[in-house]
Amino acid sequence: MSEIKQDELNSKTEINSNNSTNYNHDKVVIGNEVFVPMLKEEVLQERIRELGKQISNDYKNKVPVFIGVLNGAFLFLSDLIKNVNIDCEIDFFKLSSYGDEKISSGKVKLLKELNCDVNGRDILIVEDIVDSGLSIKFIEELILPHNPASMKVVSLLVKPNSLRYNVKIDYIGFDIPSKFVIGYGLDYAQKYRNLRSIYVLNE
Ligand code: IMP
Ligand code: MG
Repeated sequence: MSEIKQDELNSKTEINSNNSTNYNHDKVVIGNEVFVPMLKEEVLQERIRELGKQISNDYKNKVPVFIGVLNGAFLFLSDLIKNVNIDCEIDFFKLSSYGDEKISSGKVKLLKELNCDVNGRDILIVEDIVDSGLSIKFIEELILPHNPASMKVVSLLVKPNSLRYNVKIDYIGFDIPSKFVIGYGLDYAQKYRNLRSIYVLNE
């Protein structure tokens, strides 16, 4: 790499005040908010390997359909199915609930429908994080009337103290405190999904 290009790269990765982000991974500074590592890449990947193994065992001789909830679950879904060693299919819902802020709007909008027929199929809903449970409740109500053979939920993260709806999460990566987190698919105003670890707002 030429020196000029290296300089350009450095200037993009430094913390500065004009809204760019420090990607050096010890902390992520966004304006005057500091996010610190909560679940590092290796810890996430190890747990995802375990979940993949467990699901492969539980669905032996079946062909489940993994339904990812966009946008947040895209990285988790892709790493999860790489650790699943049975035949499976994938599809996606796209929901919107958070708007561009850190607090849920309390409403869910369906932005993309499924393309598969869930009738008679074993469905695994894949979420990045369950907070109030509203999104999962909304999805259950969409899917159950179409008579799947079974429906289970897998979520990388759950905030147990934030649950407001009566939903069952069958496979949980990690229970976490009710704090705002970013990275590994999770966004803050649509950014930071590309971070490899999960970071928590340092309050
Ligand atoms: P729920 O419907 O209240 O359970 O919220 C679920 C959705 O809100 C998740 O799929 C995320 O997209 C988003 N969400 C919840 N908590 C966080 C967070 O801490 N950071 C980023 N997104 C979050
Ligand atoms: Mg989501």
